[in-house]
Amino acid sequence: MKFSLTVNGQSRSVDADPETPLLWILRDHLDLVGTKYGCGIGQCGACTVHIDGEAARACSLPLSTLGDKKVVTIEGLSTDASHPLQKSWCSLDVPQCGYCQAGQIMSAAALLAKNPHPTDTDIDESMAGNLCRCATYTRIRAGIHEAAR
Ligand code: FES
Repeated sequence: MKFSLTVNGQSRSVDADPETPLLWILRDHLDLVGTKYGCGIGQCGACTVHIDGEAARACSLPLSTLGDKKVVTIEGLSTDASHPLQKSWCSLDVPQCGYCQAGQIMSAAALLAKNPHPTDTDIDESMAGNLCRCATYTRIRAGIHEAAR
């Protein structure tokens, strides 16, 4: 079945089963592989993207539910990695293995869009659903504070 999607500001067309999770549409149909597969059941946050500006789990969103909603992935957060979070992630060496970090940045970006100067508690509450197997949580928090300056 054919669907039209708006991804990173561009209209894209895909031919796929309506129940296909957005994660696989992004990775396998649109070659946007920055969004990662972790658990596949909405528990780890590795697949976090923005849907109409809200952080959402791409592994748990069937293609048929998207309609004309706007999807933004890590590739669309900025065209040249100049988002304040991308800069602070680099300057503070936030990632370790890096696998979860696109999802972490997308959740952090959604947080900062709503709350430009979050407290530690705000950050911990908002980021609680994004797991990091290297436990970079302290640096993630510092990176968000740095981006908020
Ligand atoms: Fe989507 Fe884990 S892969 S939440």
